[in-house]
Amino acid sequence: MGDTGTIRETVRERYGQAALRVMAGGGNGCCGASAGSCGADDPITRDLYADAETAGLPAEAVLASLGCGNPTALAELHEGETVLDLGSGGGIDVLLSARRVGPTGKAYGLDMTDEMLALARENQRRAGVENVEFLKGHIEQIPLPDDSVDVIISNCVINLSADKPAVLAEAFRVLKPGGRFAVSDVIVRGEVPAELRRSMELWVGCVAGALEEDEFRRLLAEVGFEEVDIEPTRVYHVDDARAFLEGSGIDVDAMAAAVDGRIASAFVRARKPAEAAATAGAGAAACCAPGCCGG
Ligand SMILES: C[S@@+](CC[C@H](N)C(=O)[O-])C[C@H]1O[C@@H](n2cnc3c(N)ncnc32)[C@H](O)[C@@H]1O
Repeated sequence: MGDTGTIRETVRERYGQAALRVMAGGGNGCCGASAGSCGADDPITRDLYADAETAGLPAEAVLASLGCGNPTALAELHEGETVLDLGSGGGIDVLLSARRVGPTGKAYGLDMTDEMLALARENQRRAGVENVEFLKGHIEQIPLPDDSVDVIISNCVINLSADKPAVLAEAFRVLKPGGRFAVSDVIVRGEVPAELRRSMELWVGCVAGALEEDEFRRLLAEVGFEEVDIEPTRVYHVDDARAFLEGSGIDVDAMAAAVDGRIASAFVRARKPAEAAATAGAGAAACCAPGCCGG
């Protein structure tokens, strides 16, 4: 696997092309699938949203959906809250969040890919919503102040980061005390073959970079989150794996037993403690008042 910069550039290029395809009226780029199995056949991205949820959203926002779950359906969102979507893509979950938090709330989308931001802003314009803002930046360095967000959502993006501890520490920093982390992502359950982990094609397809579920729990706890819960929403079996391993050069039959049931989409919840300043390991919140820190 390449270094952080190489992974980031490959991811940016892949999702930039996906956005351009949607803007040109084509399909999306698929999360978790080789080019040959995109669209309705993609076992990871297909059928995530009910028609009633997407009614009224621009068709391009729905077409651009590259997630692996439906975080706003599972997250608790209240009127007036501020939501941040990490890796907002074409903006579907930001637009759905904006509806839920209403005009007194705000939904931010954060993405590093210019073409995705252009698509998302166009989708916002078409949807005619004002309580939405798309920010350019990296999820490893969130361009928002400490303690400024009620809920962090994300849909199939953390697996793409080469620095997951930084993403989780940043999520913790920008959440208000008591704030919720409510994220859909691909996870791995137990060990998967090293060959799969080494494939860049599978990294940009949301599979090779997926965190092992216990590791995800450990990293969340390490930055200070509590009430961590990981609930699988779709578990992939050999036939699904065939669809997303196709084109990666990996022999699915040879590793069928090793991948069967080991890769899943999951909903990951956690909470920043209400008294976050007192939490050990929460770097950004560690200094609570003049005189209480250091020697
Ligand atoms: C798989 S797509 C998911 C998009 C969207 N969440 C959805 O459900 O349709 C991944 C998105 O995350 C963005 N992304 C990936 N890594 C990122 C990073 N390190 N910082 C910011 N954005 C990133 C990509 O540009 C892309 O738009």
